[in-house]
Amino acid sequence: MPAAIADVLKRMIDGGGRVCVLTGAGMSAESGIPTFRGTHDSLWSRFDPMRLATAEAWREDPALVWGWYRWRMQLVRDAQPNAGHKALAELARRVPLSLVTQNVDDLHERAGSTVDAHVHGSLFALRCFACGQAHDGPLDDYVEGQQKVAPMRCTACGDAIRPGVVWFGEALPDDAWSAAVDAAERCMLVLVVGTSGLVYPAAGLPALARRHGATVVEINPEPTALSADADHVWRSTAAQALPQLLAI
Ligand code: OAD
Repeated sequence: MPAAIADVLKRMIDGGGRVCVLTGAGMSAESGIPTFRGTHDSLWSRFDPMRLATAEAWREDPALVWGWYRWRMQLVRDAQPNAGHKALAELARRVPLSLVTQNVDDLHERAGSTVDAHVHGSLFALRCFACGQAHDGPLDDYVEGQQKVAPMRCTACGDAIRPGVVWFGEALPDDAWSAAVDAAERCMLVLVVGTSGLVYPAAGLPALARRHGATVVEINPEPTALSADADHVWRSTAAQALPQLLAI
């Protein structure tokens, strides 16, 4: 860890102030979950979000959209939390910490963290597309390589069950967004981990925190849209960097 960053983190953590961690897809990359951007095999370089991640796409071809999300759910189910997820869970036992994630996987929870805000929803929080009733039953079967899968049906109204993620053009869930804003406004230190900082409003949280007096530290192997406004940048990966915080 760069000495200047170690000093800042030690000061902040020893001072007992609240830490806010904002995570993005890079957080789960070392668990084998593809990011959205930045590599040849990232999701948005292989797939068209307008055909797979909008309400219009769902109306057009629900089986195609559900098949794609079932594939992503299976990737997550087969993955394990990495050393970075585990380190954040441990850090939260030592310091007051709010965890805000853009990720729709459940790897933070499976590492033992409480997530304060899933600002882009959760893959497994299934609900009816028409009436919104939560679907608590088991997931349908998924056969590897199956491109189209007919969605399950709602027991209340018979319409199709959709994944609990925020699609392009949809508003963020109110509760999650207010919890994220609250976390940003109350913290002394923000760790921005594994996000390209391109998707708003989530990408505005570090700047919001900074306006409220927080120090912003970015942890990302690559420069991002947020790097210039961070107080410190640590060019490392989530699984390599975050465990080092426990040694401070
Ligand atoms: P992106 O895919 O846009 O960015 C991933 C970031 O992770 C990049 O900056 C990479 O450099 C970085 N990265 C890659 N490997 C890493 C590692 N091992 N450790 C740390 N960082 C690493 O993902 P997000 O910023 O999360 O929205 O994308 C934001 C939103 O765009 C997503 O939530 C999703 C997408 O469209 C919705 O689904 C609504």
